[in-house]
Amino acid sequence: MSELVKEQIKVLIDGKECYCEKGEYLYDVAKRNDIFIPVLCRSDAFEDHRACCRVCIVEVETRGKSKVVTSCVYPIEEECTVYTQSEKIKEERAVVMALLAHRAPDSDVIGGMAEGMGGTEGFARLTPLEAGKCILCGLCVQACDSLGTGAISTVLRGTEKRVDTPYSNPSKACIGCLSCANVCPTGEIVFEENEKTRTIWKREFELVYCEECGALMGTKEMLERAAAETGVETPKVCDACRKKAMADEMMHTYRFV
Ligand code: SF4
Ligand code: FES
Repeated sequence: MSELVKEQIKVLIDGKECYCEKGEYLYDVAKRNDIFIPVLCRSDAFEDHRACCRVCIVEVETRGKSKVVTSCVYPIEEECTVYTQSEKIKEERAVVMALLAHRAPDSDVIGGMAEGMGGTEGFARLTPLEAGKCILCGLCVQACDSLGTGAISTVLRGTEKRVDTPYSNPSKACIGCLSCANVCPTGEIVFEENEKTRTIWKREFELVYCEECGALMGTKEMLERAAAETGVETPKVCDACRKKAMADEMMHTYRFV
């Protein structure tokens, strides 16, 4: 077989015939074929998947043998049949969600998912944890690290484990970009914003607006960081206005040459 023509593997997911390349993750194949599998710790923004929530479990049957796998990191190696809603999966997923709801009792997202998958009544004997919305999926830390910011990390251990800035102090490294809050699946990371400032992780950031059109460009620290990385001056106008100015200049040059 030509190297350019990669082998296609047939996968039957909930009765739907799907095709994929060897090694593709099962969750991605399902998603591409509009088959819903719930996820929490999986973000398409990253190639490296943490696979810690286990809400994406599905049942895979290969050559008569069945097993439960974590679909977001399960590479398909051969033809198989997949059940995303079998009785076994529904039961196991309900347990996973009930435990996550116990860990994050204040998260409406987690609570709603847990209710939708069977509720938490059977887990009433678990010792209540401190109120919170975090399931410790680590996506926020991954987002921060991927930008090279490193403002937050997981601290402490066991039931004390949480995401925080160093010593819970306002982090000098933070640029107020909101990547952590935007990627968080549970609504744990909060921020406040008014016309002039944004506050997150106990730090206040000045907001900068485009001098041409008035659009929000980000925090002062975000723009300074981007300028330092690209070796250009801190911009005063947004990308759209900069491109428009360049296009106008080209038109002008062309017309009068
Ligand atoms: S704060 Fe949100 S993104 Fe960060 S670990 Fe907790 S649940 Fe995950
Ligand atoms: S989404 Fe797959 S383990 Fe969390």
